[in-house]
Amino acid sequence: MLKVTLIPGDGIGPEVSAAAVRIVEATGAQIEWESVEAGAEVAIKNGTPVPDEVINSIITNRIALKGPLTTPIGGGFASANVALRKRLNLYANVRPVKTLPGVNCRFENVDLTVIRENSEDLYSGLEHIVVPGVVESLKIITESACLRIGRYAFQYARDNKLTLVTAVHKANIMKLADGLFLECVRRAHREFPEIGYEELIVDNTCMQMVMRPERFQVMVMENLYGDILSDLASGLIGGLGLTASGNIGEGGIAMFEAVHGSAPDIAGRGLANPVAMTLSAAMLLAHVGLTSEAAAVRGAVEAVLAKGQVVTRDLGGTAGTEQITQAIIAEIK
Ligand code: NAI
Repeated sequence: MLKVTLIPGDGIGPEVSAAAVRIVEATGAQIEWESVEAGAEVAIKNGTPVPDEVINSIITNRIALKGPLTTPIGGGFASANVALRKRLNLYANVRPVKTLPGVNCRFENVDLTVIRENSEDLYSGLEHIVVPGVVESLKIITESACLRIGRYAFQYARDNKLTLVTAVHKANIMKLADGLFLECVRRAHREFPEIGYEELIVDNTCMQMVMRPERFQVMVMENLYGDILSDLASGLIGGLGLTASGNIGEGGIAMFEAVHGSAPDIAGRGLANPVAMTLSAAMLLAHVGLTSEAAAVRGAVEAVLAKGQVVTRDLGGTAGTEQITQAIIAEIK
């Protein structure tokens, strides 16, 4: 029996993670879920949104499924998501974005993966007031982190039989920081000469993603660009309710989560689309070698979407979390 840490999360988190767990269980996967609490309510009770118990559970089990965690805007505690990624050294955030059958959106044939550096950049949280009215926010870029993410991206392309890696940057303006990033990705490329490589400035990349998204395969970038471009990419295939991700660290430690947040506007009303969380669970299953269970989950999700009979509100329908969860489980059985 494989033990997996489960963090239900804030807002819609408990709703979508309960749905994903039921769907995984319907495949017969032998998983014991160890549920631990993190997030905004925990922060009120414990003074920290990520108690040590959560970190210890993930370190022991090596694998986690996490619901979204609320981060206060402006003041309040620092992001629990950033804290988890940093404390567990989950340096690669992998976000596959693939056209799903039956989902009405502007593009067909999108099949790209955003690989976001997860440990540094403007997410270092180093900000200070220089004098009243002037704030300095530090963008930290290191050679070791850039080389590591560059190598990860090319290895991902090789493992998935893909032929092009695009490095996204703004080295025309941030000549030192993004210049170092590019220099490292070029070095990583030398170790994978069979894979095509190109560099694109981030603003041009945004334009090309909304005009010809099918031209991209693997896209590697620093933390902030990755945050923004992966939401943009989600929009290309139907929105945040559909996009999964994995945070991967050294030696196979990994935490899987939907790209979306805690959606306070619809929390507790049974309206959330559990597909993003369910596809994240499918990524988890594939990561631990349960490939037929992973394929069963993904296949069932695609079958429900393709039939178009049970459609959640974010995709223009009226179905709630429970209805689509039952429909996916029915496809598995
Ligand atoms: P959000 O992703 O929670 O919501 C954006 C919009 O998409 C909302 O209208 C929401 O209703 C909708 N939406 C999101 N997920 C959906 C789903 N599964 N089904 C149907 N509709 C869905 O982004 P927002 O509002 O910017 O952030 C809310 C909170 O979530 C913030 O505290 C933020 O820090 C946190 N957050 C956490 C993340 C994580 O834990 N990885 C990622 C992004 C945001």
